[in-house]
Amino acid sequence: MTETLSLTVNGEACKVAVTPRTQLAEVLRDHLDLTGTHLACEQGVCGACTVLMNGEPVRSCITYAQSCDGARIETIEGHRDDPVMDRLRAAFSRHHALQCGFCTPGMLATARDIITRFADPDEATIRHELSGNLCRCTGYVGIVEAIRDVIAQRNAEGLESARPAPAPVRPRGAFAPFQAVEESRTTPAPASTGKVGSDGSWTSIERSLTMAHPPEKVWALFRDIRAVAPCVPGAVIEDVSGSGFSGAMEIRFGPIRARFGGSGSFANDDADRSGTITGQGDDKNGRSKVRGELRYRVTPGQDADSSTVNVDLRFQLQGLLAQFNRPELVTDFADHILGQFDANCDAVLSGSQPAKARQLSGLGLGWTVLRSALRGLFRRK
Ligand code: FES
Ligand code: FES
Repeated sequence: MTETLSLTVNGEACKVAVTPRTQLAEVLRDHLDLTGTHLACEQGVCGACTVLMNGEPVRSCITYAQSCDGARIETIEGHRDDPVMDRLRAAFSRHHALQCGFCTPGMLATARDIITRFADPDEATIRHELSGNLCRCTGYVGIVEAIRDVIAQRNAEGLESARPAPAPVRPRGAFAPFQAVEESRTTPAPASTGKVGSDGSWTSIERSLTMAHPPEKVWALFRDIRAVAPCVPGAVIEDVSGSGFSGAMEIRFGPIRARFGGSGSFANDDADRSGTITGQGDDKNGRSKVRGELRYRVTPGQDADSSTVNVDLRFQLQGLLAQFNRPELVTDFADHILGQFDANCDAVLSGSQPAKARQLSGLGLGWTVLRSALRGLFRRK
């Protein structure tokens, strides 16, 4: 099944027939012969395939082409009339910031993004921001110097970026798009207390939530699967029969979308105010599968009007989303979801509805998770 995609690539409008599984990198390289976009890991880690989409860097190897309909794409063959890229290319040569050149197209896209987002970043900030682009040759010294050189030129000369709507300078570490920043303002993530770990192909998360409602009220919500399910971002309960249920959960990781349909069972212990939900599902479009078990226990908080909810989740992902089994990714992911879940529970317990805006977000979460992945990988180096 093909669909016609409209793109503006390097300033030129084009139409390309793509299937649901076609990645942006395939469109660029195989349909448009723009082979300056390199492919290496093809799983979003090395940064070699980085291009600019609507002015923001994206991994073209994991960006579904169909999600790019109507987008402006800039590859290394483009950047015409872009003074920042002109200076960067010259600076990369001057500072010996490339040897084999394989990483260079992606490195330049990221370098340009750093220059347009930061007013005067120090070396640590530049290295941190570059940590999603691997270079096997240079040792990064020349690359960092080239970027600093162009920033110095930009600041001395008032050099304008060609980016149509320059983004305001974001603080160090804020690689997340503004959607995620907005969400974090309205949906505070719970304190990261508890453990995240892996056991073979299983990932486990332990977290502790504090709720400003008495334990009996919180337990009344948790023991009712129909009432608590709408608080889980992206989750829908379709049917409950005895101790079994069927439903769906929709997740978006940047360009990756998955809707898991499945079934499970639940058991509650009212005396202990604890319960267990087990379930499994699969996403037919993305060919991913998930199995999991959630244990929860509600205990009195520090005062009579508060509760502590201890959550223990074990899950296993297979298929396209299997990379998100890694504990480094799961920490951000879990805190993001639990932050929204916590806020939704609070709304319901206070007599409101879970906010629509607190559905499991896509792009922001995707970038948050991917950023976390890259940081984790480079910390281990
Ligand atoms: S090829 Fe896309 S990140 Fe490595
Ligand atoms: S210049 Fe060879 S991988 Fe970076």
